[in-house]
Amino acid sequence: MRKPLVAGNWKMNGNLSSAVELASALKDSSLPSLVSTCDIVLFPPALYLTMVVSIINDANFSWGVQNVHFEKVGAYTGENSPAMAKDLLCAYTLVGHSERRTLFGETDNDTIQKVQALLSVNVIPVLCVGETLEERDAGQTLARVEQQIRIVLDALPDPDNLNIVIAYEPVWAIGTGRTATPDQAEEVHTSIRDILRGYSQLLSDKTRILYGGSVNMQNAAILFAQPNIDGFLAGGASLKAAEFIGICETVRQ
Ligand code: PGA
Repeated sequence: MRKPLVAGNWKMNGNLSSAVELASALKDSSLPSLVSTCDIVLFPPALYLTMVVSIINDANFSWGVQNVHFEKVGAYTGENSPAMAKDLLCAYTLVGHSERRTLFGETDNDTIQKVQALLSVNVIPVLCVGETLEERDAGQTLARVEQQIRIVLDALPDPDNLNIVIAYEPVWAIGTGRTATPDQAEEVHTSIRDILRGYSQLLSDKTRILYGGSVNMQNAAILFAQPNIDGFLAGGASLKAAEFIGICETVRQ
């Protein structure tokens, strides 16, 4: 019922020529033939999005930005609005990535407003949640993730018609080379699915829950074998065409 989704978060990496090279390599690969079985979403740096889109436009990939502001318009130097993302035909936008939360002070309240603003222009939010190592060691993983999800869902009407993606990204696994084990990830994904069911059975059944945190073409298969892992949000691995293609091919099978 749920179509898998693999997303590449390029973060603030590369330059114009490497972005063009990577987008071209993905477009000229097996990936365009996979999109009937797996949604593929690229999150390049916002400044390169137009150029990347001009390359991948025919490949049936989706794309998005890594962050937006929640206000519609105004004197917010350096920010981009959800409507601007929509103008560039972004299908998805990341919200609440742990780097936004920890490095830029993004609060749970900010994530609520960003999710609401994106939904109002029909851009699908990819809500990122996850515990720190201290929270995991203290046995607070499920409680922390539940809190991050409930605070957003409680603010939204009509869960049956909610179109959102959730990315579980343990903070200690992001960019560290240390991946959650399949059991650790599945425990949290199952718990997220249960939380969603509390809002709506349909929401629980249809919502893609991605895993993120040092995913690569080696560990993707064993993680994807878990029943509640519907795809991946890859960071470092999405910067290497062969790795990203390898992850997508794993998910397709
Ligand atoms: P990583 O990043 O794959 O490099 O760990 C994932 C993310 O931050 O989305």
